[in-house]
Amino acid sequence: MKKKILITGGAGFIGSHLVRLMVQKYPNYNIYNLDALTYAGNLSNLKDIESFSNYKFIKGDIRDSDLLYDLFQEYDFDGVIHLAAESHVDRSIEDPLAFVNTNIIGTVNLLNAAKRTWHGQYEGKLFYHISTDEVYGSLGAEGYFEETTPYMPHSPYSASKASSDHLVRAYHDTYGFPIIISNCSNNYGPNQFPEKLIPLFIHNILQGKALPVYGKGENVRDWLYVVDHARAIDLIFHEGKDGETYNIGGFNEWTNIDLIRLMCRLMDQKLNREEGHSEKLVTYVTDRAGHDLRYAIDATKLQRELGWEPSLQFEEGLSRTIDWYLNNNVWMEEVTSGTYQEYYEKMYNDR
Ligand code: NAD
Ligand code: TYD
Repeated sequence: MKKKILITGGAGFIGSHLVRLMVQKYPNYNIYNLDALTYAGNLSNLKDIESFSNYKFIKGDIRDSDLLYDLFQEYDFDGVIHLAAESHVDRSIEDPLAFVNTNIIGTVNLLNAAKRTWHGQYEGKLFYHISTDEVYGSLGAEGYFEETTPYMPHSPYSASKASSDHLVRAYHDTYGFPIIISNCSNNYGPNQFPEKLIPLFIHNILQGKALPVYGKGENVRDWLYVVDHARAIDLIFHEGKDGETYNIGGFNEWTNIDLIRLMCRLMDQKLNREEGHSEKLVTYVTDRAGHDLRYAIDATKLQRELGWEPSLQFEEGLSRTIDWYLNNNVWMEEVTSGTYQEYYEKMYNDR
């Protein structure tokens, strides 16, 4: 049983759902959340569990190798679940180096701190790296990403994640270091920073602002409710096999434009607006550079070997997600104040 677990990036979107699940489900574990609190990290995501005795927050940056080694010495972690990353494709197009520094160098720093501390005593130890389906590149109309699909990343974000995956595997193959990697499809749910499609469009619909659809809106994404991703991570952490990769996905493909129309319809109902009101906000804008056409995950290995199934139907998950944002306007105001306006203007004004 693994008792002292370091979760990196636990103040972010997926990380905060995972931290909550682990803290509540495993009172006999100590959960340490290491996060630099970048624009995407927000401690108010974890207000409900911050006073639990098995939880500790540590503000720190994975680019700081000395800090990581000191933390391993102090807390003697026996498991790492590594989520900290720069995570937004559009930002990676603007500033690739930030993605190299956190996603690649930060991951190597963490691998080194664990390797140096565990020092070949790997019994009961695990470094679990959380990755994305975007490392596999882009699909045409047919087929799915499998665990054996060759990597072909296109954006600086996906290239940096692919690179970190390769390094994690290299530590396994070279040093016998205990690792697992999972690659998940697009997540949605509460607490996602409103730069990604779903929370951004909820925010804009609420404010009556344009909905900037890249290209023709024909790109396809495979959406999974964030809590189902957290459940899969918990399962893989406990039952997954050393050295293995697991794909996680919802078998739930949507073209962007169909998804946006569904969101508009649901929001019109919830806000008592006339039918078709929000859809008028759809505005086609210049496509994202290198925009991957289609992502679709084959998650049968995870289902077959570990018995995982997504728990929520998409329409229900989306409806719950919209309700969360409507009921948490203080959260939304908090994260969209300050530098958010600058970000928005830079990304969208000239499109
Ligand atoms: P997010 O951007 O919401 O959160 C990232 C967190 O990492 C933030 O709390 C941030 O403060 C922290 N962080 C960033 N740089 C750091 C640094 N240098 N040191 C310490 N902490 C730092 O991201 P997310 O959507 O929750 O994604 C989490 C992980 O899951 C990432 O590794 C991402 O690649 C992966 N992933 C995300 C999705 C998705 O749809 N969001 C899908 C598959 C995989
Ligand atoms: P996003 O949420 O950024 O996730 P990813 O690029 O990692 O899949 O985008 C999801 C899809 O929505 C993607 O095809 C790009 C598209 N998109 C828009 O059309 N407009 C937007 O303003 C954003 C943020 C995304």
